[in-house]
Amino acid sequence: MTTPLTSAPFASGVVVYCRAGFESEAAQELDATAAQADVAGFARTERNAGFAEFVLTQQGAPDALLRLLGWSRLIFARQSLAVVGQFKALPREDRLTPLLAALPPGFRVSDVWVETPDSDAAKPLTAFCRSFNNAFVQHLRRSGSLDPASPWRLHALFPSGERCLLALALIDHAAPWPQGIPRLKFPREAPSRSTLKLDEALQVLLSPGERERWFKPGMSAVDLGASPGGWTWQLVRRGLHVTAVDNGPMDDTLMASGLVAHKRDDGFRFQPRQRVDWMVCDMVEQPRRVAARMAEWLAAGWCHRSIFNLKLPMKKRYAEVQQAFDAMRAEVEAAGRGLEIRAKQLYHDREEITVFAQIV
Ligand SMILES: C[S@@+](CC[C@H](N)C(=O)[O-])C[C@H]1O[C@@H](n2cnc3c(N)ncnc32)[C@H](O)[C@@H]1O
Repeated sequence: MTTPLTSAPFASGVVVYCRAGFESEAAQELDATAAQADVAGFARTERNAGFAEFVLTQQGAPDALLRLLGWSRLIFARQSLAVVGQFKALPREDRLTPLLAALPPGFRVSDVWVETPDSDAAKPLTAFCRSFNNAFVQHLRRSGSLDPASPWRLHALFPSGERCLLALALIDHAAPWPQGIPRLKFPREAPSRSTLKLDEALQVLLSPGERERWFKPGMSAVDLGASPGGWTWQLVRRGLHVTAVDNGPMDDTLMASGLVAHKRDDGFRFQPRQRVDWMVCDMVEQPRRVAARMAEWLAAGWCHRSIFNLKLPMKKRYAEVQQAFDAMRAEVEAAGRGLEIRAKQLYHDREEITVFAQIV
């Protein structure tokens, strides 16, 4: 039997994990998304903390909140959780008792993850988190509070040894990786580390069913800005035929696969002879210019779907992203079509975000 959602404690807000240095973008996005959804409150951040919070004006039901401000809806969030307890000065000799007191009797969770933000300040806490996690799980197991069928996972986020945010993940609306970071192994045969970016994008932006349906041997793709071939390698690995567009060289082993045609051409001018299943793009260029070219491809029907990077400027990054997406939607709508956009600042992204777009 699943745990009824109504037995969950009330939430005072949402905490999202983000890349250190992007707290202000994460906060702006929380403010904007909450305003659109009519959720009253305000966002707050601390510089380089690796997380941002949205504080509710009035406490609310965590499941409703996470349906509105869930992980997959937010670009700058690696994780999104409902905060059910804030502790500023936990006693070092017994941190567990105050945390447990914040949970209503009989409330069950499927698991508990003790985490730190991905920040320099919190790195020394990694070993503590591991041992405290073990103690926490043991306690929950002994008290019958663990239920694999529960829709909730408990998170204890420690920005420092004394400070903790106790929070809940609604599992279907949360990232499935501790710290919101998918730990991907670099494939030794891949020509560049950039390969991990496309690998992560496929895991984060697409569902397992979409990955299976949309990547089948024999399908076709164009890779703009392909050299030396890390993204092309991911496509070839899935059996796709790839046209790799770049003036730079492609990896010899990848070319020997027989699945790659290398075109030394300008990625902003190249046009496919016939429609392809995928167009991917990792060209380092101004985000508006890249977004405009991606919209042109989609509006013209040259590809069914696209994954591309938008390098972010130094300032007004959130506004720049929104402007780029608005311009893309306008161009595609002018061609009589609709556009679906999913975007995320991935763990393997630095000053950039990765976008999936398709005509709907
Ligand atoms: C970040 S690298 C791409 C790495 C590649 N995705 C990988 O996984 O190996 C950017 C590439 O874009 C190419 N590039 C930049 N501007 C371009 C343009 N206008 N046309 C074609 N390629 C371009 C560069 O030559 C460079 O190889």
